[in-house]
This record gives sequence, C-alpha cells and structure tokens, in this order.
Amino acid sequence: MCGIIGISSNKPVSTIILNSLKKLEYRGYDSAGLATIHKGFINEIKCEGRVNNLEKNVLTSKSDGLIGIGHVRWATHGAANTINAHPHSSEKVSVVHNGIIENVTILKKHLINNGHKFKSQTDTEVIVHLITEYLKTNNIKNTITKVLNKLHGSFALGIIFTDHPDLLVGARRGSPLAVGYGPNENYLGSDSYALKSMTNKITYLDDGDFCILRKDKVDFYNSEGVIINKKILELSKEDIDINKGDFKHFMAKEIAEQPNTINACIKEYINKLNNELSIFNFPWKKEDFNKIILIGCGTAYHACVIAKYWFEKLTNLEVDVDIASEFRYRNNRFRKDNLYVFVSQSGETADTHAALDLCNKNKMKTCAIVNVVESSIARDAQFVLPIHCGQEIGVASTKAFLGQMLVLYLITLKISKIRNEINDLQYANKICQLKELPELILKTLKTETKISSLSETFSNAKGSMFLGRGHSYPVALEGALKLKELSYIHAEGYPAGEMKHGPLALIEEGMPVVVIAPRDDHYEKTMSNMQEVIARGAKVLLITNKSSDEIKFDNLWEKIEVETSSIDLMPFLLTIPLQNLAYYSALTLGHDIDKPRNLAKSVTVE
Ligand code: F6R
Repeated sequence: MCGIIGISSNKPVSTIILNSLKKLEYRGYDSAGLATIHKGFINEIKCEGRVNNLEKNVLTSKSDGLIGIGHVRWATHGAANTINAHPHSSEKVSVVHNGIIENVTILKKHLINNGHKFKSQTDTEVIVHLITEYLKTNNIKNTITKVLNKLHGSFALGIIFTDHPDLLVGARRGSPLAVGYGPNENYLGSDSYALKSMTNKITYLDDGDFCILRKDKVDFYNSEGVIINKKILELSKEDIDINKGDFKHFMAKEIAEQPNTINACIKEYINKLNNELSIFNFPWKKEDFNKIILIGCGTAYHACVIAKYWFEKLTNLEVDVDIASEFRYRNNRFRKDNLYVFVSQSGETADTHAALDLCNKNKMKTCAIVNVVESSIARDAQFVLPIHCGQEIGVASTKAFLGQMLVLYLITLKISKIRNEINDLQYANKICQLKELPELILKTLKTETKISSLSETFSNAKGSMFLGRGHSYPVALEGALKLKELSYIHAEGYPAGEMKHGPLALIEEGMPVVVIAPRDDHYEKTMSNMQEVIARGAKVLLITNKSSDEIKFDNLWEKIEVETSSIDLMPFLLTIPLQNLAYYSALTLGHDIDKPRNLAKSVTVE
C-alpha cells in the first residue's frame, strides 16, 4: 500500500504531483504529502487524511520547484497523522516510501547513537538519516547502493536532494515502481495508472534496481550499482475512464458495469466463429500436471474457493486452495506435476507475489489471473490470463471478483477439454451458457431496488451471518466480507451445514441472516438449515433463483430471486444482490464507500 510519485521537469511540478496523487489515492488515504526543491531548500507540504486536504495548501504555496516527490499513505509504522505523513526530510534529502523496513529498530538505534534526531514514528525516517549520513562521503550512486544494501524489508522509494536539484532517485525491492518518459520531463510512479495521463512510455524497475532520473535522461542500476539497460514499453493508449459518470460512487458504477465487463471478457476468450476457447499458448500439456493449487487473498481467494468446486466437478485433478499469506510460510510439497494459479486484481498484493516467487524459485508451473496486466504478478508468472474488466477504483472489489470467477471457469473448461474429461457436447453447451451470462447479470441487477430497501436492517444490526452450501458457501464468504469492509459491522460467512457445530449459539431474536440457496443439489439441505436459524429467531433473507415451483416458507423475512443460469454459473448471479446489500448498508450509515476505513486497494505490504 501507499502510493509514490516523482517528477523532474522544466516546469513547476506541484500540481502535476497533486493530480497524480489523486489517481494513487486508492493505495492509501491516511495522509498525503509532497516535497519540491525550491531555491536550494526542501519545501514539504503534508496533511492528515485525503489528497483534497492537501490541495488548498499546495495551490496557495509560493514555493514550487522543477523537481518533486509525492506520497499517499496507508499507515504501517506510526499513527495516521501529519507528523508521520511522507515525505520525510533532512536538510539535504527528502524521501517517499511504500513498503516496510524490517530492521528499523537496529538501524534507528545506531543512528541515534551517532547523533541523529528523529521527528516521526515511521520506519521511513531511517532511510532519510542513512542517506544524509552516507552522502557526506559518497556520491549519489554509491550512497544509494550502500543504503539499499543496509535495508531489510520492502520498499519503493522516491528521493530528492538539495545539493543535486536536477535529479531524482527511484529504487525498488518488493514494492512496485515504474518510470515514465515525457516531453522535457520524466516520472516515477507506484503504478502506470498514476502516469498514464502523462505518458504511455514506461519502464518497470525489477527487484533490487534503482534509477537516477533527470528531466531528459534516466540511468538504471542493479543492486551492486552497475549500470543496466532497461526496455521501454509502450502501453495501450486507451484513456482510462476514471469518472464516476452518473453514479454516486465508483463501487456503484463498477457493480453496474458487470454485464459489460463480463461480456468484454467473454469476447476476449471465446471465439465467435467456432465457439472455441481462445486461450492461446497455454504452455502445458495434459500430462504436465495432476494437481492444481489456487492461491489468492481476500476476495480473490473467494474466487479461488468457488473454482475448486468447478475443478472438482469438471476435471479429475486434485485441487487445493490456499490463502497466500499462509501458503508462503508453510512447508509446501513442491511436486513437478503441480500447477499453481495466482489470482489478484491488482497483481501487486505482497503475499500473493511472494507465494508466486516461492513457486518460481522451486521451478513450479505458474499461471496468473490478474486485472492489471503491467503488474508484478503478471510479469513474474509464466502464463498470464487477464480478466479484462478495466480499472477497478472502489476499494471493495466487485467487477474484478466476477472477472476472476469467469477466467477461473474458462480455465477449468480449457483444462477439462485438454484432459478429455468433458465431451464435446457438454463443452459446447457450457460455452453457450456462458454467452448468456451478461444478459442474466443485467436482469439480476434489477434486484437492487428490493435489496436497498432491506439494507437498513443490516446497518442497524449488531452482526449478521451469511450461509451457503457447495459453491454458494464461498459466495456467502464474499457477501460477508463485502458487508463488513463497507459497513464496519461484524458479518460472518459460514457453511450452512456447520451452524449446529457452534455458530448457532450466535443466533438471537431479530439477527439478520442471509441464506444463499440456488435451486441446486444442496437446496433442500440448506432449507433445513434455514429453518433451524428461523426457529431461533433469525430474520432470514433468502437469496435464491427464479423457479416455476414457488415454495412458501413460514416466518421467512424476505426473499430475493436472481435470474437462473446453469448451476455452475449461479455464483455470478447470487453475488450481485450481496454487493448491493453491502453498498446500501454502508450508504445508510454514511460511510466512505469507495475508501473504507483502514483499507487500501493495493496491498503491497504483508
Ligand atoms: C475486498 C478486496 C480485497 C482484495 C485482496 C486481494 O473487497 O478487495 O480482499 O481482494 O486485498 O487483492 P488483489 O486481488 O489485488 O490481490
């Protein structure tokens, strides 16, 4: 988390930095700040909270410079206040940092013993003091090489120097960093989104690299300080639509976009003429793997859990699902016939990236399903499948979740096909069913009016439960996650059949419980579990699909019916009312829907 930006130009840079920080704000909004070099001095402007709070001070500031750095913070070391806001500066250097310095205690102790005084509680400030110290006896390149070698942990850094007002240093280990090239100016940014309005020419720094950037030239170095050549990539010029349009929030827009994003993704992967899946260059043959391991965090992990049901139904593969932060520290069995699939919207999630790294180091087969195709995870996986859903700005993932499920389903079909575990007719039917999905999602979005009228009950509750069986269980997990992250009210997703083993004790008179039960093989069993919670006073909202045989239940509080697809595809439709339930509950409570407290869109720290 945290976003950094840096610019060296032939014109004043503060407003350019400010505008880029607005684009990076999805990475953190605990504080914002920028620094420029003006008449030989560092001019720092920073504030607690959002970039908007910074804007007034920047626009009225009389000192602007031709070189500068900026930062949006997601707090790790030290409270979210102005003192801990970046940049952090000495008289000679100013630094912005995304990441965590793990050996901060020892470094700080040493610096304090040598007379350095610290102003903040951040880990970043040790970098400022280290650079200041090394600069006394080294040139810029040697200073940076030595300082980076002293740091443990992860970082993307932007650094400016009063004695060298023409240059800006960028460095990365673990956290992402890109360099952009413009007319008479060059840029640093945490991601290409922040730079895209200025340039489509980008170089990504690899782990351990640093660069010395001037307005007309950029030199790259490896961790030993040896100059290296880097490729300049031309990103697609398509303008990123980051307007809310007529919607109040990005989340509302992103929910509404889902018929289109799913349609776009289907078009990318299903050949219109022959109904074949066009997953080109799939690098592995059927005998290459016997086990698939699906790995992600949060919502992406939920998409993986759903896919486990599909893989087990449509293939004979052994399937595991893992949370990246657990996987990376376990004693895994790396077998040569394992295929690892990493799912990540941002492609920058630190734990997912570390899990991918671990698999790469163990020479495993690795595949990434990402939204951001320029991301670190996309670059480091052996095979990449984009979800093609466009930039997702709302911190709570919605359209990316559906996109992740779609690509996981497509790859299930692809693998099932290459292993001859699905016959041609079944395969063709499943492709046809997929093509109907955008229309079914569109129709299901009409449940919004009813779900919005029910949301107040959830926002007034102390807590709620979401229950499901089969692949509706991970849908329940996702529904609960969305509600808690947006409404800040406890919500728990649970397998419906597990309630009697403990959680039934939570049920009390009037507690809202969402039961997710499409008309599949689990329906009757889930209905029994539903009766058990109704009997204990729960206010049950049943989410099921339309069916010709209407079943009436006594004491059921409310029912929402989504459209009916094939059983496999029901998770797509059942998710829609859950997204709106979370949205409207948070709206009733007046929460910041696109930027829920304590969270950030791109989780680049572990
Ligand atoms: C929840 C949410 C998070 C992310 C998780 C992984 O709404 O968005 O749980 O799914 O942080 O992020 P990515 O997919 O970028 O790896």
